[in-house]
Amino acid sequence: MKIGRVVALFFSPTLTTKKYVLSIAEGIREALKIESAVLEVDVTTPVKRNAVPQFVDTDIVVWGVPVYIGRVPNLIAPFFKQIKGGGALGVPVVVYGNRAYDDALIELRDIMVDGGFKVVAGGAFVGEHSFSYTLGGGRPNMDDLQQGGNFGMQIGEEILSGRYNNLEGKELKVPGNPYPYAFYNAKSKQNKSIDIRKVKPETNMDICNSCGICAMLCPMGAINVASCADVPGICIKCGACVKRCPRNAKSFTDPTYLEHKQILETNFTEPAKENELFFV
Ligand SMILES: Cc1cc2nc3c(=O)[nH]c(=O)nc-3n(C[C@H](O)[C@H](O)[C@H](O)COP(=O)(O)O)c2cc1C
Ligand code: SF4
Ligand code: SF4
Repeated sequence: MKIGRVVALFFSPTLTTKKYVLSIAEGIREALKIESAVLEVDVTTPVKRNAVPQFVDTDIVVWGVPVYIGRVPNLIAPFFKQIKGGGALGVPVVVYGNRAYDDALIELRDIMVDGGFKVVAGGAFVGEHSFSYTLGGGRPNMDDLQQGGNFGMQIGEEILSGRYNNLEGKELKVPGNPYPYAFYNAKSKQNKSIDIRKVKPETNMDICNSCGICAMLCPMGAINVASCADVPGICIKCGACVKRCPRNAKSFTDPTYLEHKQILETNFTEPAKENELFFV
């Protein structure tokens, strides 16, 4: 099997997924001694999703998404389903905030298989939670990225060994419920379902300098670039504007959001979860 390109494909509003995907892709490139750099395909913002990526059977594509409510981010999934694998080898990667990845990895695996990828390995990795600085705090750390690199090296070695030359009838087995996948049902302290779909971030205009970075980073194009406190579009609570505003001017102040965040931090910060790797 001849591999010409190693691709890192990612949707990554707060950059944890991007870091893992790049570490894995670099590991593969190193094992295969491919000289050209890893091809980065960032599909995080609407501008980057203008064109639908297409691959060929000499590519290997490491494709990472964050886990949202136990699933592949559902509002971006229609775009993901258009991506064409063209017989490329595929490595689904989900990154989650130390609670659980539920059905996200099996869902991404299925999207890749349906899109024409030959899925040979996959992983679930822990990243700092988009809502928090302490839940999964600081991850991926150096050890995590080393594990990502080693995982990539192992995949590269499997390619060299010829084990992926005939994948007829082989399916990557991963944890999770098969279709129809389930969303995580988060509960309040009163044991009621938490619904934060309508919640949007607030902007402290005393410190915002109207630089427009948050509008540029928003994966939903939800923020008005001419007036960044104005969020007319759909907000998926991805945390990009909050965590990446250079002035820390954005935050979520909604009481239901804050209660949900606090419950998550209380219940899921310990123990720190281990990254999990899967091979066909
Ligand atoms: C709307 C939303 C839902 C999330 N749901 C989960 C979840 O079900 N389980 C979990 O462990 N982490 C969950 N997370 C946390 C992210 O999966 C995690 O922080 C991930 O590292 C973010 O990736 P990114 O840095 O590439 O944006 C959620 C984050 C968001 C924004
Ligand atoms: S990134 Fe921060 S400082 Fe820049 S416009 Fe947005 S909220 Fe204001
Ligand atoms: S407005 Fe919502 S969707 Fe857009 S960057 Fe901020 S948190 Fe993410």
